Amino acid sequence: MTLSRSDALVLFGVTGDLAHKMTIPALYAMVKRGELKVPVIGVAFPKLSLAQLHKRITDSIKRSGGIDDQRAYRHLLSLFKYVSGDYRDPGTFTAIKKELGVATRPAYYLAIPPALFETVIKGLGAANLADHARVIVEKPFGRDLASARELNQVARSEFPEDSIFRIDHYLGKEAIMNILYFRFANSFLEPIWNRNFVASVQITLSEDFGVKDRGAFYETAGCLRDVIQNHLFQVVALLAMEPPADRDYGAVQTEKAKIFEAMRPLEADDVVRGQYAGYRREPGVARNSDVETFCALRLFIDSWRWEGVPWYLRSGKYLADTATEIVVELKPPPQRLFADSAPETGRANYLRFRLSPTAAIALAARVKLAGKEFVGNQRELYLLEETPKQELPYERLLGDAMNGDGALFTREDAVEAAWAVVDPVLKKHHRVRPYKRGSWGPKEADAIIAPHGLWHNPKPQEAPEG
Ligand code: BG6
Repeated sequence: MTLSRSDALVLFGVTGDLAHKMTIPALYAMVKRGELKVPVIGVAFPKLSLAQLHKRITDSIKRSGGIDDQRAYRHLLSLFKYVSGDYRDPGTFTAIKKELGVATRPAYYLAIPPALFETVIKGLGAANLADHARVIVEKPFGRDLASARELNQVARSEFPEDSIFRIDHYLGKEAIMNILYFRFANSFLEPIWNRNFVASVQITLSEDFGVKDRGAFYETAGCLRDVIQNHLFQVVALLAMEPPADRDYGAVQTEKAKIFEAMRPLEADDVVRGQYAGYRREPGVARNSDVETFCALRLFIDSWRWEGVPWYLRSGKYLADTATEIVVELKPPPQRLFADSAPETGRANYLRFRLSPTAAIALAARVKLAGKEFVGNQRELYLLEETPKQELPYERLLGDAMNGDGALFTREDAVEAAWAVVDPVLKKHHRVRPYKRGSWGPKEADAIIAPHGLWHNPKPQEAPEG
């Protein structure tokens, strides 16, 4: 394995949606920070002149926040070359080779539909373009266990595992990296971080918008595949993993993989699937679609630390608000000394991690109100993270991949183990339940969490509770 920096970036799908919304703004940000100096070869099917490509790049930057650094903008344009061609045509790869010129350690970024991954990876191999190179693959990585295995095999046939970078953009978010840091940089958490003190854990990723123009994609995915099997499972792994032997990439990946392996495979009754009103009229969506735009589930991790602790995960489109939060609920004190030591509604002791749109950590506690009586109030010790100049997840991840640093990417065994957990319910599940736009999903989802109270509905504007 070489940790030398990639000396060229080949961006497959440069004219596509993902490149327009995410990759190009990330490249612009990297140029601004002086972190991108190598040639960028855009590849796509349309026949475009370089001037037309520049126009698209300019549009992408303008839409994502504007051109605030003329020098960086012009430098980014000067780095770009363009190859148009069909990925099934070996001539396309010959043209890429020519544009790569003297570069010997390129990184290939596949911002293309998953159905084309195999064709491109094989094309790179056949043209002898895979040696000393890295490949960066976008999610979804497979659509079930079998296809993920197949994809891993294809990727591994041309690239060693440490040259394959599977992107889950959640891992590039500051607030998510902070879970790892907060857990293992502090000593007060460890004694309570287990089945003896934790009653339940719940995570909600809610969005107050629909599938937008991605109806056709969404029909092939659904909420469970789109955000739960990957983004939320990664969050679960960071919360649940054992301390890694060191901060090395391999050690963290190994502990995360163990969590996926210890997750009990889901059954149909563990999952409530919902669909927002009007989804079937969205462009690209089947009129009788049974694809879920909402998913709530109960999960168990069969390990010494987490035996018997339920993990409740929930996500959906067109819910009441846009926010992502984790609530780790602690068990009540063993003896009830004060009549009000448990609040009438809600939880008394918990840790709340707010992941977006703002990042915060809150520790909820009962605190006595002044006066003769032992009467308390529910309060939160509250830490708000102000991170005005943080890197965008894609900026961070692209930079890391080009540097050969795999710490924030997902490993082959972990990806397959995560698919194995959801595979049974991809095959066998209850039909979707309709829900109103702007609600918190179908009421059936409440039954899943009922033994531990109610779902915690994150607020769009952050404020300490209590
Ligand atoms: C993407 C999903 O991976 O993550 C989208 O495809 C979802 O459907 C998005 O909206 C959520 O990411 P973020 O960073 O906006 O929370």
